[in-house]
Amino acid sequence: NEKELILAIETSCDETSAAVIENGTVILSNVVSSQIESHKRFGGVVPEVASRHHVEQITIIIEQAMEEANITFADLSAVAVTEGPGLVGALLIGVNAAKAIAFAHNIPLIGVHHIAGHIYANQLVEPISFPLLALVVSGGHTELVYMKEDGHFEIIGETRDDAVGEAYDKVARTLGLPYPGGPHIDRLAAEGKETIDFPRSWLEPDSFDFSFSGLKSSVINTLHNFNQRGEEVKKEDVAASFQASVIDVLVGKTRRAVKKHEVNQLLLAGGVAANKGLRHALEKEFEKTNVDLRIPPLSLCTDNAAMIGAAASVKWRKQKFASYDLNGNPGLDL
Ligand code: KG4
Ligand code: ZN
Repeated sequence: NEKELILAIETSCDETSAAVIENGTVILSNVVSSQIESHKRFGGVVPEVASRHHVEQITIIIEQAMEEANITFADLSAVAVTEGPGLVGALLIGVNAAKAIAFAHNIPLIGVHHIAGHIYANQLVEPISFPLLALVVSGGHTELVYMKEDGHFEIIGETRDDAVGEAYDKVARTLGLPYPGGPHIDRLAAEGKETIDFPRSWLEPDSFDFSFSGLKSSVINTLHNFNQRGEEVKKEDVAASFQASVIDVLVGKTRRAVKKHEVNQLLLAGGVAANKGLRHALEKEFEKTNVDLRIPPLSLCTDNAAMIGAAASVKWRKQKFASYDLNGNPGLDL
């Protein structure tokens, strides 16, 4: 078979997804089944509920992805799956499905790191070029990753406490917004004004690490104080002020990292990359520079299997296959 066709599976959190990717760049199918509705009433992802949904959905979603791509298992070059990080019970469903397919059809198995997937989502839009820097912002991660070549990841900064998406979701919850709160804060922020001066956590002057728990506490305390004084505060203004603090730090640290590492490409990745305020601020920051800023479309920012297929293609080319010992690893290193 001339074409490289990879079936990719993603079940690390609350999305059951399968995709077929050609040559690491072309999406033949990308089916995503979200469980958000089931987790909403709990205000967050419940691991047990997530596993159950994955079990129910996985076969249907894989069949649909194969059907939409209009291929059979015999056409596949390999089957790839997110091996971590994520919820262990959720990861296991995808890993076992991938192993079964690899074994039954005698094709290579590829394990993919979830964050590598988020970064390589950009490859599904246009080829990426090295060295590059990726700003990964999701519900579980906030990282600045330097890549000098394909498949080579160096974390130069990461969060010391909450991930940025986690901070969004917790602040949203305090404001009485539904889960996941990120998109709601984003929408409200566009209607509000920065009336509250929330702290910016810069840490040590030379550090590329992040910290968002202080900001989160500050928002919660501020709302509490307003309440106690019986004063009204507009949710829109709280959202705008919170988002301004987040964006200042993310953009500020990224600006410094890009300078220090002299990259000419900057990739935005992860669920929070869907944030309009952040996208706009980065575009504005880098439009008059030589830095080639890449931001994936919204559908490729949040969890999906297409991005896993794109990252798997790099391993396919290097023949980095997994054995049948492959396991879900919640704390997998990039
Ligand atoms: O990458 P993702 O789908 O799952 C993880 O791997 O964590 O990211 C989900 C996170 C959630 O915290 C959600 O609130 C956040 O991304 N998110 C946003 C927006 N859309 C999704 N945060 C801010 N603004 C948005 N527009
Ligand atoms: Zn993710």
